[in-house]
Amino acid sequence: VDSKTSQLIDLQEQAAKLYHHILVNTEGGQPALDYLHDRGLTDDTIEAYQLGFAPSQRLLKPFFDQRQSDYQLLRQSGLFIENAEGELRDRFSERVMFPLRNASGHVAAFSGRLLKKADDQPKYLNSPETQLFNKSRLLFNFDRARSAIRAAGEVTLFEGYMDVISAAQSGVENGIASMGTSLTTEQIYAIERTTDKLNVCYDGDEPGQRAIARALDLLNQHSHLQLSVIQLPEGQDPDEYRQAHGEPALKQMLTTARETPIQFHLRYLRRNRSLDTDSERLDYLNQIMPMLAQVQEPVELDLYLNQLATEFKIDKSALTAQLKQVQRDTA
Ligand code: GTP
Ligand code: MN
Ligand code: MN
Ligand code: MN
Ligand code: MN
Repeated sequence: VDSKTSQLIDLQEQAAKLYHHILVNTEGGQPALDYLHDRGLTDDTIEAYQLGFAPSQRLLKPFFDQRQSDYQLLRQSGLFIENAEGELRDRFSERVMFPLRNASGHVAAFSGRLLKKADDQPKYLNSPETQLFNKSRLLFNFDRARSAIRAAGEVTLFEGYMDVISAAQSGVENGIASMGTSLTTEQIYAIERTTDKLNVCYDGDEPGQRAIARALDLLNQHSHLQLSVIQLPEGQDPDEYRQAHGEPALKQMLTTARETPIQFHLRYLRRNRSLDTDSERLDYLNQIMPMLAQVQEPVELDLYLNQLATEFKIDKSALTAQLKQVQRDTA
């Protein structure tokens, strides 16, 4: 690590410390602390993740000025917005701050969540890309999760930071998240160097389900990871599930509920479909046949065919014959 990099890291870590101090020790942080407590986060969790609060645009700038920090370094930190005159102002204000740590546990950037809903602003605001922060590389919580991933022999991939933190507070510490963007190949390679099993646990809403389908495809193409899906009840994300049902229930679900990628696709392709006419059922079956044709394990395939035969009242031998035809056509 060169000296510029370590100076930039030092700035991020000082900022994290200050945001955290504002949250836990000051009057100005009280509304944000109440907000986090209302969401069910404990003080231990707030401490462990060094959560913070950015109260206004006049926090970091005077703080670093007093320390005579280097102007170019401040500019490059991503912590400020620069106006036409080259003056710097804090980028984050009225946001709950999540330090984003790199794989070595150093603060590389921040994500700030709006404390109060505001229509003209994004819910989460991330630091811009800097020398320290490449959002297609960084995985939230990877530094803390690594030993739990090794111990469990698997990693769980969540959609949001709050889901990772919720899971950890519930005793499931092998969770990570990408940066709000979809998963990248760089992130997949980093995961594959640590484990060979991955569970996708995205939100139970339509965007979450669509993102699972996309993530499974990408993971399938670019890794040999053994994949499964943890399916949440309609509309909920893991953090909402914890708030509704408690930590033991979330832990139970995260450690036991597993669906194969095929089971996920079979279910996903049926959403918004009644399947109550023959032509709809035929459509559906034609769509899933190519997927079934790829199942390698005979027992697993048999399971799916039995389910379909029973549900659609179709002769299993007809399904098998059709499957053979699809396999021939794609061979
Ligand atoms: P909470 O409302 O705090 O529980 O957040 P959430 O994690 O449930 O949010 P959501 O499911 O909407 O989004 C999942 C993840 O996408 C978040 O954790 C962020 O990483 C990212 N994200 C959400 N909204 C925004 C946004 O407005 N801008 C950016 N850059 N990322 C976002
Ligand atoms: Mn502290
Ligand atoms: Mn979501
Ligand atoms: Mn969510
Ligand atoms: Mn949420």
